[in-house]
Amino acid sequence: MKISILGATGAMGGLVTKAALQDGVVVENKVSSRDRIESLFKNTDGVVDFSCPMATDSMLRYVRDNQLGIPIVIGTTGLSQAHLDLIEECSKSAPIFFTSNMSSLVSMLNIVVYVMAKLLGENHDVEILEIHHRLKKDAPSGTALMLGKTIAKARNREFMDIANFIRYGIIEQRKSGEIGFSVQRCSNVVGTHEISFMNELESIKIRHEAHSKEVFAKGAIRAVKWIIGRSNGIYTMDDLIKETVTSTLKSIYEEFLCNQ
Ligand SMILES: NC(=O)c1ccc[n+]([C@@H]2O[C@H](COP(=O)([O-])OP(=O)(O)OC[C@H]3O[C@@H](n4cnc5c(N)ncnc54)[C@H](OP(=O)(O)O)[C@@H]3O)[C@@H](O)[C@H]2O)c1
Repeated sequence: MKISILGATGAMGGLVTKAALQDGVVVENKVSSRDRIESLFKNTDGVVDFSCPMATDSMLRYVRDNQLGIPIVIGTTGLSQAHLDLIEECSKSAPIFFTSNMSSLVSMLNIVVYVMAKLLGENHDVEILEIHHRLKKDAPSGTALMLGKTIAKARNREFMDIANFIRYGIIEQRKSGEIGFSVQRCSNVVGTHEISFMNELESIKIRHEAHSKEVFAKGAIRAVKWIIGRSNGIYTMDDLIKETVTSTLKSIYEEFLCNQ
């Protein structure tokens, strides 16, 4: 299998190259800001993108205009609604895997958060804290936004109606159903996400910490191997882990009930 990497000279690009090598995947094209975007699509089975929104935008426009049908895995974060619309357009002519977090543990965290939000309801305050290294350019992280959207979905609410990103000066009291976001940028923290559910008497905190960016690189290689050969459309980490998780979740819960 041959892949191309957009953002090959970056931190993630280097790790994806290493993960590919370890997995017997050939990196055919390495593309960065000095290269032409079309070189991504030469003699390749799939593309992995860890770059920046501007580069992802150029790639998507090229895919939309040329209808190449080559599978793409997008890991770049900080994309706007216009980019998401472009992904939707491109997915009519190619399979596109898009996730703000390539870790399968984070996908499981997302499921757990959905279940918790559903079980606890709106009378529990929810706060999401994310911590990343000092070089990260977008905030809150794509993962924090994904977790927030999951909670909004569980509450049958519009995410932007209940998300609170700014607390400064005189602030209004907490809105009903509000999801508060806190952001820290420090040192070389790879990525930490903590979701707190609180009532007046107690709280539950669920925390995921990535110890190495390698987890995202390995996840991207897993994703590109999984998406090659699939029909056109948009796929996420949820689709990748769905097959295993849906069957096991039900049996785990049944086993839990039997063992009571
Ligand atoms: N989804 C996930 O699991 C996950 C995990 C980690 C990171 N990320 C995201 O992945 C992205 C990259 O992270 P990183 O830490 O590797 O960043 P980075 O070290 O800054 O690397 C950025 C890469 O993008 C390239 N680039 C910049 N502008 C470009 C352009 N106009 N055309 C083509 N290439 C361009 C850079 O090339 P030059 O060297 O030529 O400038 C470089 O190779 C970020 O959005 C980050 O948030 C996602």
